[in-house]
Amino acid sequence: MFQVLHVVGARPNFMKVAPVMRALSTRPGVSQVLLHTGQHYDRNMSEVFFRQLEIPEPDDNLEVGSGSHAVQTAEIMVRLERVLLSARPDLVLVYGDVNSTVAAALVCSKLGIPIGHVEAGLRSFDRSMPEEINRLLTDQISDLLLTPSEDGNENLVREGVAPEKVFLVGNVMIDTLARMLPLAEAKGDSLRGRLGLAEAYGLVTLHRPSNVDKVETLREIVAALSDISSGLQLLFAVHPRTRQLLDGMGFSASHSRLKLVDPLGYVEFLALQQRASMVITDSGGVQEETTYLGIPCLTVRENTERPVTVTLGTNILVGRDMDRLRLEAAKIIKGKGKAGGIPPLWDGKASDRIAGIITSMMSALSSKTKRSSRLSP
Ligand code: UD1
Ligand code: UDP
Repeated sequence: MFQVLHVVGARPNFMKVAPVMRALSTRPGVSQVLLHTGQHYDRNMSEVFFRQLEIPEPDDNLEVGSGSHAVQTAEIMVRLERVLLSARPDLVLVYGDVNSTVAAALVCSKLGIPIGHVEAGLRSFDRSMPEEINRLLTDQISDLLLTPSEDGNENLVREGVAPEKVFLVGNVMIDTLARMLPLAEAKGDSLRGRLGLAEAYGLVTLHRPSNVDKVETLREIVAALSDISSGLQLLFAVHPRTRQLLDGMGFSASHSRLKLVDPLGYVEFLALQQRASMVITDSGGVQEETTYLGIPCLTVRENTERPVTVTLGTNILVGRDMDRLRLEAAKIIKGKGKAGGIPPLWDGKASDRIAGIITSMMSALSSKTKRSSRLSP
């Protein structure tokens, strides 16, 4: 048996691992282990996704919880090393760009365990973003780099990654979206009613440290959202990081035009996205999902590691210019939102391509594993 061990930890990992595990489960000769680092732990940041996306229960949970970057990354490394020394998988798959991703990749590289990075090659070219550091490092030490779009391949080749390690597979997040969309569509109307939303509304989610860690910045964003909500009712699904500062600012009360709710489950958030008039976000995954759904997206960031959502999709980077946010939102409310297309290979089959690549590389990877001299702890 060729053992693939998946490491996940934070919300955006769960919708990525789900279709890959599903696709690999149909391949003979592959066994799978799922390890949760515990980076995200609230029910609505973790467990709800396992249930809704039918992800198997994790085989192990490292329960690292929250902490500074160093503490969180180091704790994951220490605890994961113990697990990997006894599990000795043939391949570890890591997902996206969170601390759990880079921590797992570092441990594997020191143990000589081959690493596959799902969602490799994305670059914002902004090293003040913790995720950019995680992406750069993870890609440098991965053995198999699975990219969602052509720009990922270009970035990796430019950084000196051997082209034979890089595979353009498409977007696994879209695999999950495509599978769950019928269920979400069926729920949309009743959910809208339950949340007290009008026929037309906008959806908001924000959690980047650059937007939500400083009172002045968050205050300006909330003021702009309040203004926009006078023309279009807004539902703001508040990430726990954002909630902390909003509570501290004394801004936790919703009003009928700007409603604040806790983080939503995947099906609920998708249901609301697909019938929203606009989405305002700084989330990486939400930029992609809105592009696929054809919903105008205003991204409160100066840059994006997902440029196809701007060049091909419905995404507009408004930066941190709140007047620009108001202006672009007003255009959308008038029915002049950006239209877009779906990037190549965002077709719901990325995970099948990944499973195909892994099975065809199984013998090569396992012989490489046997050859490599693993370091002792
Ligand atoms: C992390 C990722 C980010 C990703 C985001 C997705 C890193 C460096 N950041 O950011 O790339 O876009 O997840 O959501 O990996 N908290 C809770 N409950 C939870 C989890 C977190 O209350 O279940 C609170 C804690 O106070 C914690 C804070 O949120 O300190 C931030 O959590 P953390 O995982 O460090 O970073 P995120 O901002 O969630
Ligand atoms: N999401 C969700 N509920 C919410 C907000 C987001 O299910 O309240 C989903 C969203 O549809 C997408 C994923 O979370 O699939 C994106 O994760 P997140 O924004 O936490 O991280 P990022 O993509 O920015 O790293």
